[in-house]
Amino acid sequence: MNAMSTSKLDLEDIQGLILRGYRMPMVRYYLLKVKTPAAARALLGRLVSGEEKDAPQVTTAEEWQVGFAPGPGDDPSASPCRRPDYCLNVGITWPGLVALEVSDRVPALSFKSFTAFVEGAAQRAERVGDKGLNAPEHWIGGFGTGSDHVMVTLHALSFEALRSYALRLTALFEQGGAFEQLWHGDGMALLEIQDGKPVPVPKVHFGYVDAISTPTIRGGPEPTQPDHQEPCEPWLFVLLEEAENYYLPEPPQLGRNGSFGVFKMMRQDVVGFESFLQSNKDTINPELLAAKIMGRWRNGVPLALSPDTDSPEGGISPERLNDFEYVNQDGSGDPRGLRCPVGSHIRRVNPRGQPVTGQGRPGGSNNSHRLIRRGLPYGPTYIPGQPDDGIERGLLGYFVNSNIENQYEFILKQWVDDAAFVGSVRLNPNSKDVVIGHNDAAGSIFEMPQPQGPPLRINGFSNFVTTQAVAYCFLPSVTALKFIAGL
Ligand code: HEM
Repeated sequence: MNAMSTSKLDLEDIQGLILRGYRMPMVRYYLLKVKTPAAARALLGRLVSGEEKDAPQVTTAEEWQVGFAPGPGDDPSASPCRRPDYCLNVGITWPGLVALEVSDRVPALSFKSFTAFVEGAAQRAERVGDKGLNAPEHWIGGFGTGSDHVMVTLHALSFEALRSYALRLTALFEQGGAFEQLWHGDGMALLEIQDGKPVPVPKVHFGYVDAISTPTIRGGPEPTQPDHQEPCEPWLFVLLEEAENYYLPEPPQLGRNGSFGVFKMMRQDVVGFESFLQSNKDTINPELLAAKIMGRWRNGVPLALSPDTDSPEGGISPERLNDFEYVNQDGSGDPRGLRCPVGSHIRRVNPRGQPVTGQGRPGGSNNSHRLIRRGLPYGPTYIPGQPDDGIERGLLGYFVNSNIENQYEFILKQWVDDAAFVGSVRLNPNSKDVVIGHNDAAGSIFEMPQPQGPPLRINGFSNFVTTQAVAYCFLPSVTALKFIAGL
């Protein structure tokens, strides 16, 4: 087993969503049920045939131009630099592999290291806190029912592109009775008025800039924003033989170069969140509270670099927004969380070099639990202070990882909803992530350590995010999709 990978990633075989942030402003997700297995397998094959005229093609992790012919008005000689106007990706759940008859037709099929994937999101829901209103019986659109077989993701640069590829895709889904559409949902970048025009911005509801921290993968494309953390081994995000904590799914032509994506739709209580910030204004400035619970000011500036203001003198360039540690190799830094509380969202979901229970050395990394996030908000931009318009808002997208148990589920169970994960800091036993933890008004608590005396405490808040849908999806390679089509 290699501690450090030197192998080259096979970018043309790996789905683009895994390794590249598309930065497209809109997305449509389709949840499909297999109706006619042979027709469904054949259609999956057409999505990777290389015949763009026949069907939109799955986007790989290669450079943009590959596989996309120049469009009307494009200079063909400039096509290598052309950005496509759509990106297409496919995920298949375990019931989906069964419904496609992959399990019947491939005796060697094995996902033995991937119990979470085989059990599926609904069966695993309770262990990640998806109980009560977050429980599978409340999920929308057929998620968690066992009929949730295939997720198709269509990103687009414009409404026109979304409309035209969506029309092509929905006609294809129905051909030969291949699939029944159970649900579709749209996400779109939030808009802000700049110079009198609406401009898409990389923000999420609750008003924070997002998509700042994305892992760098050794041998993969660079993230748009420098990560400043130890690069991750590729097998943490792409299924490879050299992995240290799983066996590649079998047969290898199905498993290799795949990944797993946890599709998740989360409703956000924007009105409740703003009134929570305002209702504590006698204790703490609402913007500072917003920063303390996230670990970044709403404009993305990290508390670790600027604990008192979101606009430090001289500014912080975008390249430096990830250039910080919580605990350095010599133990210095912010071990107690005076600047950035240990219980803040970003410090819980990625403690960086802070040793956590059971692992880590100061200044090291907690890379084996990192996630790649690919999401966009849904619902219109909310302007704080406006009356509740009753429109649903939230976030939908994929958490990409090679090991759902050890990455996505581990983070939620051990770090988000738990208080005892940092041995050196004693959090109140009821503390959970304020942004996404499963809090209830009776017991919730958020603590902000102070240089002297007891921490500043905020109580009495409920959860602001409710799970609407989850699907544990296998993101097959191009080879695997061809293999399935050929069965
Ligand atoms: C509606 C729900 C959520 C909201 C509004 C939200 C918001 C944010 C924001 C604003 C950031 C900071 C931007 C950045 O560092 O890139 C962030 C970072 C992050 N979030 Fe969330 N998040 C949500 C759900 C989740 C969930 C469910 C998970 C885990 C399963 C998660 C995992 C992460 C990770 C891993 C980071 C990067 C932290 C780092 O590397 O420093 N988030 N989130």
